[in-house]
Amino acid sequence: MGGVRQTESASNPADDQGQPRTRMVTISIMGKRAQVPEDATIMRAIEHSGQQIIRGAGCREGFCGACGTLYRLPGDYRIHTGLACTTLVREGMSLSQIPSVPLEKAVYDLEQLSPDVDCIKRLYPATFRCVACGTCNKACPQGLQVMDYIQAAMRGDIAELMELSYDCVACGLCALRCPAEIIQHKVGILGKRLYGRYLRKESPELDARLQELKAGRFDGEYAELMSLGGEALSDRYYARDMEQ
Ligand code: FES
Repeated sequence: MGGVRQTESASNPADDQGQPRTRMVTISIMGKRAQVPEDATIMRAIEHSGQQIIRGAGCREGFCGACGTLYRLPGDYRIHTGLACTTLVREGMSLSQIPSVPLEKAVYDLEQLSPDVDCIKRLYPATFRCVACGTCNKACPQGLQVMDYIQAAMRGDIAELMELSYDCVACGLCALRCPAEIIQHKVGILGKRLYGRYLRKESPELDARLQELKAGRFDGEYAELMSLGGEALSDRYYARDMEQ
């Protein structure tokens, strides 16, 4: 199986009467039936079934886009998409995790580009094959308006391209489903780079912070973080102050 390796099968813990503590559902993981806890994510279910994920897992929190998954549900003709680390299993689900989506990545020197439609044409010409069918929108596990940012790219509206693709996690599921075979997430990344290099508004606060970084103001704190073990680092991460 692509991306997973069979390990010793996990079992459902039982209570004193030998009854399963957790309600289980039956799913099909890449063609193999498995009983998994009903409240498991797809990623946890794969591991619960005794398989080790060796490709297609990164952050496990819905940020890195490494765990794109296709699945079908009973009585539903559609192929659904989701991130394995955040999508819960359902009774009768049949799924395949997609370790990566093949693509040709444009190679460029950002300093030699211009933030306009010609740049998109040159680096990702397939973008202009878009037929505005909206399949990419339906495929996006982030709920992004992918088609709209591709249309922005076709107009050379780099600011709109950046804005609409900002929350893309680059899982590639849009590219996998696109009938025009566009690589939407790569176009989005190009847009964000072009915007950051050529169009972003000046930010005195950012410039000041960059100066502080260069001057080594945070070197001691970085060194401390690098010395922490995984658990302590995780505790520190979840205890951090977050902007609402
Ligand atoms: S493992 Fe990173 S998004 Fe799922």
